[in-house]
Amino acid sequence: MTMSLRVVVPPHPLIAHWLTVLRDRETPSPLFATAMTELGRWLTYEAVRDWLPQLSLQVQTPLAVTEGMVVDPSVPVLAVPVLRAGLGLWAGAQTVLPSARVAHIGLVRDERTGEAHCYLDTLPERIGERVGVMVFDPMLATGGSLIQVLERLEALGVSGQRLRVVTALAASPGLGALGKRFPDLTVYTACIDPELDEAFRIVPGLGDAGDRLHGSQSPVFPEEAQP
Ligand code: PRP
Repeated sequence: MTMSLRVVVPPHPLIAHWLTVLRDRETPSPLFATAMTELGRWLTYEAVRDWLPQLSLQVQTPLAVTEGMVVDPSVPVLAVPVLRAGLGLWAGAQTVLPSARVAHIGLVRDERTGEAHCYLDTLPERIGERVGVMVFDPMLATGGSLIQVLERLEALGVSGQRLRVVTALAASPGLGALGKRFPDLTVYTACIDPELDEAFRIVPGLGDAGDRLHGSQSPVFPEEAQP
Protein backbone atom coordinates (compact mmCIF):
# COMPACT_ATOMS: atom_id res chain seq x y z
CA MET A 1 0.00 0.00 0.00
CA THR A 2 1.41 3.44 -0.87
CA MET A 3 1.08 6.19 1.73
CA SER A 4 0.30 9.78 0.88
CA LEU A 5 0.56 12.93 2.96
CA ARG A 6 -2.66 13.68 4.84
CA VAL A 7 -3.50 17.39 4.94
CA VAL A 8 -6.48 18.39 7.10
CA VAL A 9 -8.10 21.82 6.71
CA PRO A 10 -10.75 21.87 9.46
CA PRO A 11 -13.90 23.65 8.24
CA HIS A 12 -14.42 25.85 11.28
CA PRO A 13 -15.60 29.50 11.30
CA LEU A 14 -13.12 30.50 14.01
CA ILE A 15 -10.20 29.04 12.06
CA ALA A 16 -11.25 30.88 8.88
CA HIS A 17 -11.78 34.08 10.88
CA TRP A 18 -8.39 34.16 12.57
CA LEU A 19 -6.57 33.24 9.35
CA THR A 20 -8.23 36.19 7.62
CA VAL A 21 -7.07 38.49 10.43
CA LEU A 22 -3.51 37.17 9.91
CA ARG A 23 -3.70 37.77 6.17
CA ASP A 24 -4.85 41.40 6.46
CA ARG A 25 -1.83 43.66 6.02
CA GLU A 26 -3.49 46.30 8.24
CA THR A 27 -3.51 43.95 11.25
CA PRO A 28 -1.15 45.39 13.89
CA SER A 29 1.29 43.11 15.74
CA PRO A 30 -0.71 42.72 19.00
CA LEU A 31 -3.80 41.59 17.07
CA PHE A 32 -1.63 39.43 14.79
CA ALA A 33 -0.31 37.69 17.92
CA THR A 34 -3.86 37.15 19.19
CA ALA A 35 -4.90 35.68 15.83
CA MET A 36 -1.89 33.34 15.81
CA THR A 37 -2.65 32.22 19.36
CA GLU A 38 -6.28 31.51 18.48
CA LEU A 39 -5.29 29.56 15.36
CA GLY A 40 -2.85 27.54 17.45
CA ARG A 41 -5.60 26.77 19.95
CA TRP A 42 -8.27 25.69 17.43
CA LEU A 43 -6.00 23.86 14.99
CA THR A 44 -4.52 21.90 17.90
CA TYR A 45 -7.99 21.18 19.28
CA GLU A 46 -8.81 19.63 15.88
CA ALA A 47 -5.44 17.88 15.53
CA VAL A 48 -5.73 16.00 18.84
CA ARG A 49 -9.31 14.83 18.23
CA ASP A 50 -8.24 11.38 16.98
CA TRP A 51 -4.68 11.47 18.32
CA LEU A 52 -4.67 11.79 22.11
CA PRO A 53 -4.97 8.35 23.72
CA GLN A 54 -7.81 7.91 26.20
CA LEU A 55 -8.53 5.70 29.18
CA SER A 56 -11.96 4.65 30.34
CA LEU A 57 -12.61 4.64 34.07
CA GLN A 58 -15.37 4.76 36.60
CA VAL A 59 -16.08 8.06 38.29
CA GLN A 60 -18.13 8.75 41.38
CA THR A 61 -20.39 11.75 40.83
CA PRO A 62 -22.14 13.33 43.85
CA LEU A 63 -25.09 11.03 43.01
CA ALA A 64 -23.83 7.79 41.43
CA VAL A 65 -21.00 5.88 39.81
CA THR A 66 -20.70 6.25 36.03
CA GLU A 67 -18.28 5.53 33.18
CA GLY A 68 -15.92 8.29 32.08
CA MET A 69 -12.99 8.91 29.72
CA VAL A 70 -9.76 10.74 30.54
CA VAL A 71 -6.63 11.52 28.53
CA ASP A 72 -4.14 8.69 29.18
CA PRO A 73 -1.49 10.24 31.47
CA SER A 74 1.02 7.48 30.62
CA VAL A 75 1.45 8.77 27.04
CA PRO A 76 3.57 11.93 27.18
CA VAL A 77 3.47 14.67 24.56
CA LEU A 78 6.46 16.63 23.26
CA ALA A 79 5.65 19.99 21.66
CA VAL A 80 8.18 21.41 19.19
CA PRO A 81 7.61 25.09 18.33
CA VAL A 82 9.84 26.28 15.48
CA LEU A 83 11.31 29.69 16.30
CA ARG A 84 10.51 32.38 15.96
CA ALA A 85 7.00 32.37 14.61
CA GLY A 86 6.04 28.99 16.05
CA LEU A 87 5.96 30.60 19.50
CA GLY A 88 2.67 32.29 18.57
CA LEU A 89 0.97 29.06 17.52
CA TRP A 90 2.30 27.28 20.59
CA ALA A 91 0.91 29.99 22.91
CA GLY A 92 -2.58 28.84 21.89
CA ALA A 93 -1.75 25.14 21.62
CA GLN A 94 -0.42 25.16 25.18
CA THR A 95 -3.94 25.77 26.47
CA VAL A 96 -4.95 22.48 24.79
CA LEU A 97 -1.81 20.51 25.78
CA PRO A 98 -0.83 22.07 29.14
CA SER A 99 1.24 19.07 30.29
CA ALA A 100 3.42 18.80 27.18
CA ARG A 101 7.19 19.05 27.45
CA VAL A 102 8.51 21.74 25.11
CA ALA A 103 11.61 21.60 22.88
CA HIS A 104 12.40 24.62 20.72
CA ILE A 105 14.08 24.46 17.33
CA GLY A 106 15.37 27.75 15.87
CA LEU A 107 15.50 28.02 12.09
CA VAL A 108 15.95 30.99 9.81
CA ARG A 109 15.73 31.03 6.03
CA ASP A 110 18.38 32.56 3.84
CA GLU A 111 16.36 35.15 1.92
CA ARG A 112 18.43 34.58 -1.26
CA THR A 113 18.31 30.80 -1.48
CA GLY A 114 15.24 30.03 0.63
CA GLU A 115 17.32 27.46 2.51
CA ALA A 116 16.77 27.16 6.27
CA HIS A 117 19.65 27.19 8.76
CA CYS A 118 19.35 25.81 12.28
CA TYR A 119 20.64 28.00 15.15
CA LEU A 120 19.00 26.26 18.12
CA ASP A 121 17.99 22.67 18.84
CA THR A 122 16.76 21.73 22.32
CA LEU A 123 15.29 18.33 21.40
CA PRO A 124 15.92 15.67 24.04
CA GLU A 125 18.79 13.24 23.26
CA ARG A 126 16.35 10.35 23.50
CA ILE A 127 12.61 10.31 22.92
CA GLY A 128 10.63 7.38 24.37
CA GLU A 129 8.70 5.08 22.04
CA ARG A 130 5.32 6.10 23.44
CA VAL A 131 5.84 9.87 23.20
CA GLY A 132 3.55 11.76 20.83
CA VAL A 133 5.26 14.67 19.09
CA MET A 134 3.53 17.76 17.72
CA VAL A 135 5.45 20.34 15.64
CA PHE A 136 4.26 23.96 15.41
CA ASP A 137 5.40 26.19 12.56
CA PRO A 138 2.96 28.77 11.19
CA MET A 139 4.16 28.71 7.57
CA LEU A 140 5.06 25.93 5.23
CA ALA A 141 6.46 27.62 2.11
CA THR A 142 9.13 25.53 0.33
CA GLY A 143 8.83 22.96 3.11
CA GLY A 144 12.59 23.12 3.72
CA SER A 145 12.33 24.22 7.38
CA LEU A 146 9.80 21.59 8.35
CA ILE A 147 11.69 18.84 6.51
CA GLN A 148 14.80 19.72 8.55
CA VAL A 149 12.82 19.44 11.79
CA LEU A 150 11.22 16.15 10.77
CA GLU A 151 14.58 14.69 9.68
CA ARG A 152 15.97 15.56 13.10
CA LEU A 153 13.00 13.82 14.74
CA GLU A 154 13.34 10.85 12.39
CA ALA A 155 16.96 10.44 13.50
CA LEU A 156 15.58 10.20 17.06
CA GLY A 157 13.14 7.49 15.97
CA VAL A 158 10.04 9.68 15.72
CA SER A 159 7.91 9.29 12.59
CA GLY A 160 4.52 8.11 11.38
CA GLN A 161 1.29 8.34 13.30
CA ARG A 162 2.79 9.52 16.59
CA LEU A 163 3.95 12.67 14.85
CA ARG A 164 1.63 15.53 13.87
CA VAL A 165 2.26 18.99 12.38
CA VAL A 166 0.24 22.16 12.98
CA THR A 167 0.76 25.09 10.61
CA ALA A 168 -1.32 28.21 10.00
CA LEU A 169 -0.80 28.26 6.25
CA ALA A 170 0.69 25.79 3.78
CA ALA A 171 1.72 26.34 0.16
CA SER A 172 1.10 23.61 -2.43
CA PRO A 173 4.78 23.37 -3.51
CA GLY A 174 5.88 22.89 0.11
CA LEU A 175 3.24 20.23 0.71
CA GLY A 176 4.46 18.45 -2.43
CA ALA A 177 8.05 18.40 -1.18
CA LEU A 178 6.94 17.33 2.30
CA GLY A 179 4.78 14.50 0.93
CA LYS A 180 7.66 13.10 -1.11
CA ARG A 181 9.93 12.92 1.92
CA PHE A 182 7.34 12.05 4.63
CA PRO A 183 4.39 10.33 2.94
CA ASP A 184 2.90 9.00 6.19
CA LEU A 185 2.66 12.43 7.88
CA THR A 186 -0.51 14.26 8.96
CA VAL A 187 -0.61 18.08 8.74
CA TYR A 188 -3.31 20.37 10.15
CA THR A 189 -3.54 23.79 8.51
CA ALA A 190 -6.04 26.64 8.17
CA CYS A 191 -5.61 26.89 4.37
CA ILE A 192 -3.58 25.74 1.37
CA ASP A 193 -2.29 28.56 -0.83
CA PRO A 194 -1.40 27.85 -4.45
CA GLU A 195 2.08 29.23 -5.00
CA LEU A 196 5.35 30.86 -3.98
CA ASP A 197 6.84 34.02 -5.47
CA GLU A 198 10.46 34.40 -6.65
CA ALA A 199 11.54 35.13 -3.04
CA PHE A 200 9.98 31.84 -1.79
CA ARG A 201 7.12 33.69 -0.08
CA ILE A 202 3.62 32.17 0.07
CA VAL A 203 1.15 33.94 -2.27
CA PRO A 204 -1.36 35.30 -1.31
CA GLY A 205 0.01 34.28 2.09
CA LEU A 206 0.20 36.51 5.15
CA GLY A 207 3.64 38.10 4.86
CA ASP A 208 6.54 37.27 7.18
CA ALA A 209 4.89 35.65 10.21
CA GLY A 210 7.92 36.03 12.49
CA ASP A 211 8.35 39.73 11.76
CA ARG A 212 4.64 40.51 12.02
CA LEU A 213 4.29 38.54 15.25
CA HIS A 214 7.17 40.30 16.95
CA GLY A 215 6.77 43.73 15.29
CA SER A 216 10.26 43.46 13.79
CA GLN A 217 9.47 44.36 10.16
CA SER A 218 11.49 47.59 10.16
CA PRO A 219 15.31 47.64 10.57
CA VAL A 220 14.97 51.00 12.38
CA PHE A 221 13.24 51.39 15.74
CA PRO A 222 11.17 53.42 16.23
CA GLU A 223 10.40 53.65 12.50
CA GLU A 224 10.73 57.45 12.35
CA ALA A 225 14.18 57.35 13.98
CA GLN A 226 16.96 58.70 11.75
CA PRO A 227 20.72 58.10 12.16
C1 PRP B 1 9.43 31.19 8.20
C2 PRP B 1 8.32 30.35 8.81
C3 PRP B 1 8.83 28.94 8.63
C4 PRP B 1 9.65 29.02 7.36
C5 PRP B 1 8.87 28.41 6.24
O1 PRP B 1 10.44 31.35 9.14
O2 PRP B 1 8.03 30.68 10.14
O3 PRP B 1 9.67 28.50 9.72
O4 PRP B 1 9.89 30.41 7.10
O5 PRP B 1 9.56 28.45 5.05
P1 PRP B 1 10.04 27.17 4.25
O6 PRP B 1 8.89 26.21 4.22
O7 PRP B 1 10.38 27.70 2.87
O8 PRP B 1 11.26 26.61 4.92
P2 PRP B 1 11.64 32.39 8.96
O9 PRP B 1 12.82 31.72 8.34
O10 PRP B 1 11.14 33.62 8.28
O11 PRP B 1 12.05 32.68 10.46
P3 PRP B 1 11.22 33.44 11.62
O12 PRP B 1 10.13 32.51 12.07
O13 PRP B 1 12.26 33.63 12.66
O14 PRP B 1 10.70 34.72 11.05
